[in-house]
Amino acid sequence: MTATSQIQIKIEKMAIGGAGIARHDGLVIFVPQAAPEDELLVEFTAKKKNFAEARIIKILKPGPSRRDPPCKVAYICGGCNWQHLSEQEQRLQKESLVFETIKKFNPSLEFTHLPIKESPRVFRYRNRIQPKFKNGQLGFFARNSHDIVEIDDCLITEEVLTKKFPEIKKWASHQKSGEVLRLEAYISDQEEVHFSLITDVDDGVGFSQVNRFQNEDLIQTVLDWSNIESGQNHYAQVFDLYAGSGNFTIPLLNQFKASSVMAVEMNAKLVERGRAQNKEKRLSYFTSDVESYLKRAHLTENDLVVLDPPRAGTSEYIMRTLASAKPKKIIYISCHPVSLARDLKWFFDWNQKMGHNYKLSRLQTFEMFPQTDHVETIAELKVD
Ligand SMILES: C[S@@+](CC[C@H](N)C(=O)[O-])C[C@H]1O[C@@H](n2cnc3c(N)ncnc32)[C@H](O)[C@@H]1O
Repeated sequence: MTATSQIQIKIEKMAIGGAGIARHDGLVIFVPQAAPEDELLVEFTAKKKNFAEARIIKILKPGPSRRDPPCKVAYICGGCNWQHLSEQEQRLQKESLVFETIKKFNPSLEFTHLPIKESPRVFRYRNRIQPKFKNGQLGFFARNSHDIVEIDDCLITEEVLTKKFPEIKKWASHQKSGEVLRLEAYISDQEEVHFSLITDVDDGVGFSQVNRFQNEDLIQTVLDWSNIESGQNHYAQVFDLYAGSGNFTIPLLNQFKASSVMAVEMNAKLVERGRAQNKEKRLSYFTSDVESYLKRAHLTENDLVVLDPPRAGTSEYIMRTLASAKPKKIIYISCHPVSLARDLKWFFDWNQKMGHNYKLSRLQTFEMFPQTDHVETIAELKVD
């Protein structure tokens, strides 16, 4: 790069994906490891028609929320990309990113935007991690690379798990392979640490909420928002789509004692675990892709639908099916604002076409993943 590709900029805010954003000569510039209001000397690393990427050469004046990351490998490890921001700034940025993204896809949508829920722990909250191992090194992949950043601790992971790192390292060094080993380590419900290899034939334990401290509030919020407000004393059916091993299914089953509960999940291991938790006849667990399941399901206007898809979100077919079936209430738990915003657009476009009168009645952001740009959101859709 030549000196002419260096410019001075001021960061406005953070973007989805975790970089800071600045504007310069009609270009939107994304700068990893920047903080709001940072004044920076940066160098372009990629230039497209309307946007560019740049890296920090020098911090000329740090923004007020910039701090030294508590973890010594924070700037190189691919795990935490927001440790250099105060926790308050992380929350502010997530709240406004969610709001702006929903509005960008759905400009005329009005809704109550509740204040972000803080995580009870901002460090030492993760109970499941997927470290890597090669040539005696245990760690995580470096940012944008498959090099291993060696670690002897991970500040966002619960200590009972990180204390096992020497044991995990010793165990991994006895596995025969010149390749990078992908490992999974987690704290079980019995508070024991388990670890194993992830391979092409065994893809690990499957999804679980990694922040069990904040998960309690997430479940309670789903239960509170599910409550029937008037005119009816129960839902005919409760659907938990993308149910995992029953994180919301079992609490919903206990709350709505007169309803049939249908859990839909495509990972057979998670379905097995979910089924083992409760044998009541009211509960039916389906090992199925949600879209295929909805093609044969019978949703009614007296039902509750809870859905918690992966980061990619759902599909236009699923959102249209839900808008057509007109269940009494829909609670959408999302781990990616863009897929949530897109799915809401599909839903409300179809809602309008059908002449139904759903509202996005409330929306709340949850801090589930402090020190990273990842964010959880709950949205409630109900018929006015
Ligand atoms: C974000 S997790 C939520 C799991 C659960 N609600 C919880 O809180 O633990 C999404 C789940 O959807 C499952 N999944 C992903 N794509 C799916 C699909 N097309 N159909 C059914 N399940 C799917 C994944 O296996 C994962 O368990």
